[in-house]
Amino acid sequence: MTQRSVNECRIIDLPKISDSRGNLTFIENSNHIPFDIKRVYYLYDVPGGSDRGSHAHRNLHQFIIAMSGSFDVVLDDGRQKKRFQLNRSHYGLYVCPMMWRYLDNFSSGSVCLALVSEKYIEDDYIREYDTYLSAVREDA
Ligand code: TYD
Repeated sequence: MTQRSVNECRIIDLPKISDSRGNLTFIENSNHIPFDIKRVYYLYDVPGGSDRGSHAHRNLHQFIIAMSGSFDVVLDDGRQKKRFQLNRSHYGLYVCPMMWRYLDNFSSGSVCLALVSEKYIEDDYIREYDTYLSAVREDA
């Protein structure tokens, strides 16, 4: 497998229809994000100051949106780290497979929505950072 780079991960702007009644944003499979959506999950009632999601996924593509409030997503490809602040619901962060990632700086009441490319498979997770580094070095 070729080693993945954090530079493949990017903010993607979504369509936003605004009028006096408010804003509407939509997402179509493969059209606005580079994969088909098989699962949706969300994080909410996250206590301020906590962090989540210190792990990598072997095959999962993800698109992460701050539906409310704000939080940061930190991505690490084993060589380079990037921090993205998410705070609006008309854009999101595309995360390719094999990125070590964690989320922190949750504001109170924030909601994190994740649209992802596969059903939940525990074997897709790499939960130890050392195991992750060994895996990316094998791919280098
Ligand atoms: P996990 O992905 O480890 O969340 P975080 O890294 O943010 O703490 O998931 C937490 C628990 O929820 C874990 O036991 C697996 C379970 N889970 C599911 O059953 N289905 C899902 O779609 C997700 C995302 C998690």
